Amino acid sequence: MKIEVADEAGLGERGADLVLESLGGRPDPVWGVATGGSPLGIYRALAQRTFRAWRGVRAFALDEYVGLAPDDPRSYRSTVERDVVRALGLDPALVHVPDGSAPDPVLAAKRYERDIEQGGGIDVQVLGIGRNGHIGFNEPGTALDEHTHLARLADETRIDNARYFARMSDVPVSALTQGPATIMRSRRIVLIALGRAKAPAIARALTGPVDPVSPASILQRHPDVTVLLDADAASALPE
Ligand code: PGA
Repeated sequence: MKIEVADEAGLGERGADLVLESLGGRPDPVWGVATGGSPLGIYRALAQRTFRAWRGVRAFALDEYVGLAPDDPRSYRSTVERDVVRALGLDPALVHVPDGSAPDPVLAAKRYERDIEQGGGIDVQVLGIGRNGHIGFNEPGTALDEHTHLARLADETRIDNARYFARMSDVPVSALTQGPATIMRSRRIVLIALGRAKAPAIARALTGPVDPVSPASILQRHPDVTVLLDADAASALPE
């Protein structure tokens, strides 16, 4: 696991380097994209780079709320289309987001896992981390061998995400998410965290035991993880 500390702009550039290095070297590249505020600097940096192959990149989102229509502006489908697909010029037909409005979400989760596998697996997965150590919507207590599944959101996560909704009661209670085991199959992982609120989760994930209390701790077992931190997010790590 490599840990790099820089300012927000520098982290965006570094994340962009790692993503392009992974995708540029593949004949049929597959990218794992994350929503949330943390990866936006990576997407902004990528938009400034020249990479003519965007149209051929397949992408899989990490997660999606259950119960929002895909064209709801708060859905992750809409967010990914705005921040990634249109920003970079990806082909929307090649960009997959779990189907959070499927009548049978458990089946939709299984299908999504199969689609990732049949797509040849993810070359590089971008990840944020929650204050409680979640990755995707894998909240504390999630079995670390879970694949894409229907997940309940932790109260802390619903509170953090309430900023995107008019009322707390509008925040969905469940989501479809790639599981820890799905994420671990990506060939490379780039985790980005900004701000002091993430410092305890980062310290626990990177230096604590690998266990479901901190779903992100599983990343300690992955052979190619780069953790991009600003000084605040790194502030609880041992010297
Ligand atoms: P954030 O979310 O980037 O908006 O802080 C990260 C996450 O919850 O995984």
